[in-house]
Amino acid sequence: MASMFRILSASVSVPSPTSLAHFSNLQLPCLLTSVSNAATWTYTTLAIIFALLALEQSVYRYKKKHLPGDSWTIPIIGKFADSMKPTMEGYMKQWNSGALSALSVFNIFIVMASSTEYSRKILNSPAHAEPCLVYSAKQVLLPDNWVFLTGKDHVAYRRVLNNLFTHKSLGLYFNIMDSVTRKYIKRWLADAAADPTEKPIMMTVRDLNMETSLRVFCGNHLPDKATREISDKYWAITVALELVNFPFALPGTKIYRAIQARKVALAWLELAAKRSKEAVSQGKEPQCMLDEWVTLLNDPAYKGRKEFSDREMAMVVFSFLFASQDAMSSGLIYGFQHLADHPDILAKVREEQNRIRPGQHEKPMTLEDLDQMPYLKAVVKESLRVKPPVTMVPYLATKAFPISDTYTVPPGSMVIPSFYNSLHDPKVFPEPDALTPERWLDPENPANKNPQNYLVFGSGPHKCIGIEYATMNIAIVLALASELTEWEHVLTPRSDKVQIIATIFPQDGCLLKFTPRHA
Ligand code: HEM
Repeated sequence: MASMFRILSASVSVPSPTSLAHFSNLQLPCLLTSVSNAATWTYTTLAIIFALLALEQSVYRYKKKHLPGDSWTIPIIGKFADSMKPTMEGYMKQWNSGALSALSVFNIFIVMASSTEYSRKILNSPAHAEPCLVYSAKQVLLPDNWVFLTGKDHVAYRRVLNNLFTHKSLGLYFNIMDSVTRKYIKRWLADAAADPTEKPIMMTVRDLNMETSLRVFCGNHLPDKATREISDKYWAITVALELVNFPFALPGTKIYRAIQARKVALAWLELAAKRSKEAVSQGKEPQCMLDEWVTLLNDPAYKGRKEFSDREMAMVVFSFLFASQDAMSSGLIYGFQHLADHPDILAKVREEQNRIRPGQHEKPMTLEDLDQMPYLKAVVKESLRVKPPVTMVPYLATKAFPISDTYTVPPGSMVIPSFYNSLHDPKVFPEPDALTPERWLDPENPANKNPQNYLVFGSGPHKCIGIEYATMNIAIVLALASELTEWEHVLTPRSDKVQIIATIFPQDGCLLKFTPRHA
């Protein structure tokens, strides 16, 4: 390198005599020095860039070792372009390349696990790996949100929150879910009567789901205006949940818009927490999750932590919204699509409804009714298996993580358990892509014999806290829709193709036509 600088300096230091005539004796050394300095800077900069690029490749190859994955990473951005527009085909290629495989995005080294064994190992090794959600999550949820706690602090906090999902609490939520769902079904039928052409249910189901969640979490402590505003703004949060995002929350970026949406939502949720405390202190009966929580804290027999500020409660509710909104919408939309595409299964759902609730379609459904509907529950479980809303969850290796006998995940790497292959393992789920609720009804079926494969809700200390809630809500919506409506799925070439917006959805948004079943 030094010799190159010398050659360049030499060439500029021998200009033609005519050109020299334009410069004074003083100007010549000055010019030569500045040109030479510029060249030195250019070549030094180039040298540093080349060295860094070479280092980047060496580090990637050193970390990757024998794992499948590209031998070289695209400089600086790695697989950023792929992560901007993720496809199921792209993910499957990665998952099928090996039980463990490697890639790099913006120099974040990523180990992808696709087998049940490795995925579970990551989820159940809190000493080596903890959830890192997506990169943008901390900016959206705020760093002091409980979901970022780890170890003992996380266990202690979660123990308090488990009280919000008891059978008794779920019974209270059930009534709210039933009434919000009926309100939406009525609206869908009225809209369909006004315009009977098929419509994508992508947004209508999201609205139903958002109102259900907000009413379950906050009851009437939120005015209608707030549920509408949160619902409208929430889409900005959903689209910011890419695996890798532009790292700075500059105005105009997705993360910036998501942060603005969170500010609006949190302000309303804080108000709801305050109102809930007031209502409970006035002796009112619990009407929602916040009331259940406040009532519990006031119970003299309760031994846990007693003080939670309005802001802290609001952040918990927001974390539930964040964790549930997209996954629930995905689960519900595929529920509708699956039942429409399998009229034999829909007929069995209706038969069970008629048997348990004969002629009672106007009467609210109860948790006790649902307990007597094993077929409906099996449909929900199977629909979530065939199209798992969450296909993977990013974790961070907090220290060197010896995941297998031959490979140790380097500290600081992202390590991602993925669930799709476990949920489509043909040994456990013969004909894995077929929707077969019956497999869950036979205790001897390999599906029931291998619960470790059912990773729809994750596993280990961070396993979904809302499993009962989620499955119950999807069941209510599908039960009421099948009792009260007929729906026809208008198939398009994109109906069976998957789009990934944090969770998975049919690419065409699932085009349905609703008609009433009862006059
Ligand atoms: C079909 C709907 C849902 C699916 C597929 C789903 C799936 C998941 C998955 C895969 C995880 C990560 C688990 C892990 O890291 O091992 C998770 C975590 C979580 N989910 Fe869900 N979820 C759903 C609905 C809900 C609902 C309705 C709520 C709340 C009401 C909820 C609250 C949470 C919370 C708070 C966490 C983090 C738990 C922790 O870190 O301790 N989810 N969920």
